[in-house]
Amino acid sequence: MVSLPAIRAHNASLKSLGPGLVAVFVGGTSGISLSTVLAFARNTISPRIYLIGRNRSAADAAIASVKNINPSAEPAFLQSDISLLKNVDRLCCGIAAKERKLNLLFMTPGYMTLKGRDETTEGLDRKFVLHYYARMRFVANLLPLLTAAAQDPSIDTKARLSRVVSVLDPHVAVRLGGSGKLDFSDLSLKHTFSLNKCGAHASLMGDYFLEGLAKRNPHTSFVHAYPSGVATNLFRELPAGRVLAAVLTPLLKPFMVPIEESGERHLFAATSEKFPSKVEGEGMKGSWRSQRRDERGVVVTGSIGMGRYSQRIRNWKVQGIRARWRR
Ligand SMILES: NC(=O)c1ccc[n+]([C@@H]2O[C@H](COP(=O)([O-])OP(=O)(O)OC[C@H]3O[C@@H](n4cnc5c(N)ncnc54)[C@H](OP(=O)(O)O)[C@@H]3O)[C@@H](O)[C@H]2O)c1
Ligand SMILES: *[C@@H]1O[C@H](CO)[C@@H](O)[C@H](O)[C@H]1NC(C)=O
Repeated sequence: MVSLPAIRAHNASLKSLGPGLVAVFVGGTSGISLSTVLAFARNTISPRIYLIGRNRSAADAAIASVKNINPSAEPAFLQSDISLLKNVDRLCCGIAAKERKLNLLFMTPGYMTLKGRDETTEGLDRKFVLHYYARMRFVANLLPLLTAAAQDPSIDTKARLSRVVSVLDPHVAVRLGGSGKLDFSDLSLKHTFSLNKCGAHASLMGDYFLEGLAKRNPHTSFVHAYPSGVATNLFRELPAGRVLAAVLTPLLKPFMVPIEESGERHLFAATSEKFPSKVEGEGMKGSWRSQRRDERGVVVTGSIGMGRYSQRIRNWKVQGIRARWRR
């Protein structure tokens, strides 16, 4: 785990990337994404920041905070329900019309639920869309802009940033006794949906998708981050979610990553040279390793130079809880 002072020192150096970084935060109205927005605004010069979500009052408050932290920042809210992929396409067209490059695509949309399959008019499960389909659609649609940022001739190679961060859970497929396997006969879980399977499929399919993109887009780097426990609004769609949050938050507090620290750590994941693109990473020697399980449940280890990383943001406290439960 990288120490918090080291992370803060790295983040404070981001001004050297120069002015005018462009970043899209999908789910930027709340939680991990919002705290990362604020850390990004605090550490960059004249950034252009797009927040995507549904809640306008939350977005207004977020934009006021960004302007307060950094008057040179240009934040904008794009309001949309992205559980429909046609809305994702529309948003991406809007961004492509305004920007000629994109330095960072940061994605956290999702919610907790106990409900079963909840089909949208497009025939996909809503939670699965937020955790997988919509995210991958954003990446695919915005890749030309990410590539443009990676090859920006006006910027020194060392100062170029072109990165995708998806915050979910790279290991959920094997946690809670999961097999770490995909059900290839029902990838979209139309017939065999369960929340466990949905978690596993969203995580693994996202890994494979990003891994494939990292190979074909060697100038952009791709990170799948596990945030550990962070006290956010994640419970809001559960029955009595607010009551649950009010009861659980103080109990879990000692085990949770404070929201501001989470923002700083995710900004590190979004910008650190520890996670170089394939091209930048080739020739770099490093001990950095990332792990995932392949479709047979076998642990696959990647290292610098592959362009795609699984990153645990900070997990010793969470592991502490689990170890205690096991005993
Ligand atoms: N917090 C944790 O401890 C934890 C642990 C493990 C994994 N994760 C994962 O990390 C991700 C982020 O979690 P978080 O705690 O930051 O959650 P959060 O505070 O609930 O934020 C989720 C964001 O997603 C947006 N969103 C949800 N549904 C949407 C929709 N239909 N259309 C557009 N935007 C939508 C929300 O915006 P609006 O409300 O404005 O629509 C909100 O900004 C989640 O995928 C979660 O599964 C979190
Ligand atoms: C929208 O955000 C505000 C401010 O964070 C919050 O008080 C309100 O409950 C949210 N509305 C919904 C529908 O989640």
